[in-house]
Formats: sequence, structure tokens, C-alpha cells
Amino acid sequence: MKKVGIVGWRGMVGSVLMERMMAEEDFKGFSPLFFTTSQAGMKAPDVGVDAPPLVDAHDIDALMSMDIILSCQGGAYTEAVRPKLAANGWKGYWIDAASTLRMDDKSIIVLDPVNRRVIDQALDRGIKNYIGGNCTVSLMLMALGGLFENNLVEWITSMTYQAASGAGAKNMEELVAQMAAIGNQAAGLLDDPSSAILDLDRKVTDTIRSKAFPTDNWGVPLAASLIPWIDRAMENGQTREEWKGFVETNKILGRSDNPIPIDGQCIRIGSMRCHSQAFTIKLNKKVPVGEIESMLAANNDWVKVVPNRKETSITDLTPAAVSGTLTVPVGRIRKMTIGDDYLTAFSVGDQLLWGAAEPLRRILNIIL
Ligand code: HSE
Repeated sequence: MKKVGIVGWRGMVGSVLMERMMAEEDFKGFSPLFFTTSQAGMKAPDVGVDAPPLVDAHDIDALMSMDIILSCQGGAYTEAVRPKLAANGWKGYWIDAASTLRMDDKSIIVLDPVNRRVIDQALDRGIKNYIGGNCTVSLMLMALGGLFENNLVEWITSMTYQAASGAGAKNMEELVAQMAAIGNQAAGLLDDPSSAILDLDRKVTDTIRSKAFPTDNWGVPLAASLIPWIDRAMENGQTREEWKGFVETNKILGRSDNPIPIDGQCIRIGSMRCHSQAFTIKLNKKVPVGEIESMLAANNDWVKVVPNRKETSITDLTPAAVSGTLTVPVGRIRKMTIGDDYLTAFSVGDQLLWGAAEPLRRILNIIL
């Protein structure tokens, strides 16, 4: 059996990955060795198969003995360790959740329901680095894969509503702490049937503006507000998250030489782990909505077309409905009043599943 080294399995993405791999009984297909940055020699996690004690994640000899390494340890680890393995002549496969190597010529961004052909060609060419994509990009492609597959897209804008989980576990905790602070401060007014709505509003606004409001991780209030900026600035006014939408999408589709224009604004909102996106899509030909819905639904096993009606949209097309599931609903699909070749749609997807962990466990199984 192939030897697979797993690094960063205790973090948020790593934990979701472990849960999915156990649910799918992936561990029966290889010999796992768990690496650690702090607990070498301790017992391996219980994943239903025997595994030796934990090994130091910077033990290059131990890493070199792996056929495949799967890392959710983060970009700093990738930067420190991957070049050392290459310098020592390691020939194994490197699977990574971090963005460090995504745009490298010797890497493939993996999302096999959408780019299995690109992955298979890369495996044939001897490419060794397989990297999970940006969550927003992967979720957009899972939702709209049918349009790309049928070459219908002239350009796209994606306006995002991104969950706290994309910023990390501490940020998720702080969002809930912010909600709790608001709830605690407003409790008296909420319990008093005679209180006026403007008093309640003032209480909430005063709370989120107060010095005592917990903002160590976000820097600003997110609960009862939003943050119109994700990641660092690029020179052209985009954020890096917005830049990724263009470069990563085209790389995943294997068309970096002939890219589809994609741009938009990426916004943080107070959902826990589901990213949502509103699309404006310029079609390169006029196709009836019914045909478009059929193409979207046929693209992969996880996309679900939600009829453009109030009842279905508010029940099926929300973070509350989707969180913790692999389903990627796409709805609000209609032609825009600005022209018959302009389509709009809205999608939701779990940022930790298809946005992070799921493409990694799937590429592991493809390589095995
Ligand atoms: N950059 C994303 C976000 C998560 O902040 O939501 C990782 O893809």
C-alpha cells in the first residue's frame, strides 16, 4: 500500500478533511503516517486503521519516505518544507490546501468534477503538485460548471457574501462572540414588549461601536455589519481574493492562455461557513433559461438547480440550508432586463467542504 503523510490534520480544514475521509473510508486505501509540529511521539488519531505514533513535521527523512504528502498546515509550512523535499530529490506527490503553490507552473489546481481532464493530462506529464483552489473560485465552478463546459461564458462578475470560516477558526469564534455581545446588551429591550424599535437599533449600534466590543481578530464589527474587503490589496485596486477569481478560475479550466474575464467584489458577511455569490454572466449566445438550467444540473453530482421562486429560494438557497453539506445549490436564475444574453444567478456552498477539504481527498484517491 502507498504511504501517505498527513500534515495539519488538527486545524479547521484538516479536521473537516479527516471527518470526510473517515466517512468515505478513505484510510483503508493507504498506510497513513500523521505528522505534527508539536507532539512527536504521541499516539496517532483514531481513523479506523492502525497508524504509527506522530512524527515531527520537519523531519525531512521521514517526509522523504512518503509516496504522497497531504498538507493542511498552511503556506508557511509549504514554503519551508516543499523546496527541501525537491532539493533532496523527492519524487512523491504533494497535495496542499495552502495557496502558496497554486499559480506555480509545476502545480495543478484541483477540482476534479470540473477539471478531471486537466488533472489526468498533468498526471500523464509527471506533474507532482496538486493544490486545492480558492474556496470562492471552487464553489463558483461547482455551481456554474455547466456554462463553462458548454463554452457559453463571454465574461462574469461575481459579487460574494463570504463566511467567517474563510478567515479562520478564531474569526468564527469572534463572530459568535460579537453576536453574543449584541444579544446580551439588547436582551432587556427585547424582553420589554413596550420598548421602541429605535431604542433597540440604538442599543445595537452603540454596542458594535463600543470599545468593549470584541474585534481582536476582525479589527471591526462583522455581526450586524459587513466588511467590504478580503485579503490584501493588489496594485490595481482589486483585493487578492478578487484577483484569484480571474487567475485561478482560468487555470483550473486549463485556459490561462485564453482567459475568460472575471471580476467582482468580495465581501465578508456574518455567515459561519457558507460562501454565497451573486453572478452577472454575459453569455456569448442567447440560450433559453430552461436549457441553461439543464446544462447546470447535468454538470456534476452536487450542483442543485433551485427554481426561481420565493419559497424554494428562501428555504434551499441559503447558508442555513447548505452548511455542512456537499450540495451546491444555484438559483435565482433568470435573464436580466438589460438583455437576453445577460444571465443572473445566485449560489451557496460550504466553504470548508467543496471550498477546501473535498477536492483534496478526491485528488488523493485519484492519485492512489
Ligand atoms: N480566502 C477565502 C476567504 C478563504 O477569506 O474567505 C480561503 O479560500
